[in-house]
Amino acid sequence: MSDECRVCLLGLIFLSSLLTGISGVDETHVFISSGENVSLPCNNALHDCNSTTWNYNGFIDSATVELIGLGIKKKDTESHERLSLGSDCSLNIRNISTEDYGYYTCQQYLNGQRLKADARVFLHVLHVSSSQTEISAGLSVTLFCQLYSYPRVSCDDSVGSERIQLFWVNQTGVKLTRSDSRYQISSSSGHCIITLNTTLLNEDHNREWRCEVTQRDQVKTSVTYTVKSSGEKTSHQSILIILKTAVFAAPTVILLQIICARRAERKDSQQPEEIEINTIIE
Ligand SMILES: *[C@@H]1O[C@H](CO)[C@@H](O)[C@H](O)[C@H]1NC(C)=O
Repeated sequence: MSDECRVCLLGLIFLSSLLTGISGVDETHVFISSGENVSLPCNNALHDCNSTTWNYNGFIDSATVELIGLGIKKKDTESHERLSLGSDCSLNIRNISTEDYGYYTCQQYLNGQRLKADARVFLHVLHVSSSQTEISAGLSVTLFCQLYSYPRVSCDDSVGSERIQLFWVNQTGVKLTRSDSRYQISSSSGHCIITLNTTLLNEDHNREWRCEVTQRDQVKTSVTYTVKSSGEKTSHQSILIILKTAVFAAPTVILLQIICARRAERKDSQQPEEIEINTIIE
């Protein structure tokens, strides 16, 4: 293995621990945008997954739902078609919806005895909706950005232990505040929701607004709205709002893998070092 690859691997390990937000041995907070796929780590897994049971506690009622029992997926749960068990006993969930938030518990059983402490993963789901899907310049639009968590977390309590906050930022990454006359920003911390209201202008074509969730001042996931004006007619110019989600962990890992692979290739062919990052970062 080349030195570059070793550096890449160290970077990968560092970034994955940073980005998944591991806060202790058996409690992990995972932030994901609706529509994305997620993998919840089972930090107490044994050598095979036949001893692994995954339980879910969510908002619907306080009952615990067994999703995976001793390595076998239960077929009677709401989400079973989107679930799978990873080779490391992690729980994979496809196409996250706003009904998946809550906490997931990974347990290990052997001969009916529970081994090890439970590993718990809190799944927070970020979702953005708009008051209109297709709108015109001159009309006002409201974008609602909500973080779904169970148990509920406070989103404006900057001194709380998790320090979870929501922001709207413009395309240069600057936070939009109440003092900006173009936007009305309001938040309801009880529901962890932040809204952005603005009147669209013709020059908003291609403008982006992004809702970010941060934990201890680190961005965990975000959803971007892009305003697209369709056609060049001024009379019936309609503006479409396109929703794009970004999850930081996966793209960064892929980026590092690509850099790693390219460096290895270049080393072989003795070409000058050059890293193409711009094509990957959106
Ligand atoms: C994802 O789930 C939404 C409903 O939450 C559904 O409308 C959409 O078709 C699903 N997408 C895929 C790719 O399964």
